[in-house]
Amino acid sequence: MRKAKMKGIILAGGTATRLFPLTHTTSKQLLPVYDKQMIFYPLNTLVKAGIKEILIIIAPRDAGQFLNLLGPIFDRHEVRLEFKVQSAPRGLAEAFILGENFIDSDNVTMILGDNIFEDDFSDVIKNFKSGGYVFAKKVPDPERYGVVKFDESGKAVQIVEKPKDWISDFAIPGLYVFDNRVISAAKESRPSDRGEIEITDLMNFYLEKGELQVSQVKGDWLDAGTFDTLLEASQIVKEKNISKNFDPQVQEAILEFNEEQKALAKKQLQ
Ligand code: G1P
Repeated sequence: MRKAKMKGIILAGGTATRLFPLTHTTSKQLLPVYDKQMIFYPLNTLVKAGIKEILIIIAPRDAGQFLNLLGPIFDRHEVRLEFKVQSAPRGLAEAFILGENFIDSDNVTMILGDNIFEDDFSDVIKNFKSGGYVFAKKVPDPERYGVVKFDESGKAVQIVEKPKDWISDFAIPGLYVFDNRVISAAKESRPSDRGEIEITDLMNFYLEKGELQVSQVKGDWLDAGTFDTLLEASQIVKEKNISKNFDPQVQEAILEFNEEQKALAKKQLQ
């Protein structure tokens, strides 16, 4: 049997109502974070970790804009991008159902299109064998996130999506590494009270089997889904040079795209 590869999914669909009116006209993941479109940050996180095949899930309205930006630029590099339109958002776990053919018999790392990380996850992603691997970060407002509770020995014992009653200060950022069983787990998962198939159900699938690992994110983590966190993301990216330290493949692809666009603009002026 061939060794399973690690594929990547970026979830960039959704309507992003928290960012209206900005997202009336474009996708949240195409808004700027300092000097780059937001989508490049999660893309960089995956490419930096050695992932070469990436599926980007997008909303129908924004498909043209994503293709204009990303369509031609990675073909010439080692990274292969695929796109899939999500007709309506039905929960984060749906990504693994939409991505079934793309994932095939491999493992998968999913990152949310508005999650920006300072850390490099190469070690975890390159050494991943089976089960599930997610991360935790202490936050002042855990009720906004998926949350994990640890016991005294530091073992993850409970995972809840946006808990109304406090269980822990540890949020689970939008970066999830799963083996191939995640596809069938997503298919079997039933919608929650808010009508979505929840990513926390998939984490609990592995937690119940004793096959979920959780480690802490050391550097900055931002979920740039609100006006304040979008602004904060730009400030942190600038201060910490995050966009200047992109993987060379991503950096080069962006540079090529910029040069091409400049040449095109010049031609149109002639
Ligand atoms: C989503 C997930 C949540 C996770 C968060 C990270 O929430 O449902 O579990 O902690 O992303 O950004 P959302 O930001 O879509 O409300």
